[in-house]
Amino acid sequence: MTQVSVTVDGVVYTDEVEARTLLVHYLRERLGKVGTVVGCDTSNCGSCTVLLGGMSVKSCSVLAVQANGSEVTTIEGLAAADGTLHPVQQAFYDSHALQCGFCTPGMVMASCDLLAENPNPSEQEVREGIEGNLCRCTGYQNIVKAIQAAGRAMSGTATSSTATSNTEAVRA
Ligand code: FES
Ligand code: FES
Repeated sequence: MTQVSVTVDGVVYTDEVEARTLLVHYLRERLGKVGTVVGCDTSNCGSCTVLLGGMSVKSCSVLAVQANGSEVTTIEGLAAADGTLHPVQQAFYDSHALQCGFCTPGMVMASCDLLAENPNPSEQEVREGIEGNLCRCTGYQNIVKAIQAAGRAMSGTATSSTATSNTEAVRA
């Protein structure tokens, strides 16, 4: 067993883990962070995506011990303490960018990384940026729209009509 100390969604956790424990299993089974889901366990689907040190990673391809000393953000750490959704979450909601929702946690986390690097991505850049995340429901169109809308909202370039509808959605 190896001791790891990881900050997850702003809370420091120190635990003994087997060296072979995957980060996704540590998050779900030890910390109860079941918002991070497992779709394939073979690094293909992206549903397990989290931010590790601010960069998106597929947490089924990272050992828990590799996260020692690092900061991890999961989908459960994105919303504000008062429940206000992160702009990417809000944009997914507003743009109807999910159906079954299974891919959504990973999509949102990958989108956060994408927008941190490129706040105003083109459609092509969005599609390339999320190519490691698979969705079997939506056809991706509204996911792409949501990510671009979130980029505009986060960089303050949303049109007034978009900003108004976002505000109304928050109040609804
Ligand atoms: S569960 Fe990690 S990529 Fe599919
Ligand atoms: S919304 Fe169902 S897999 Fe993406």
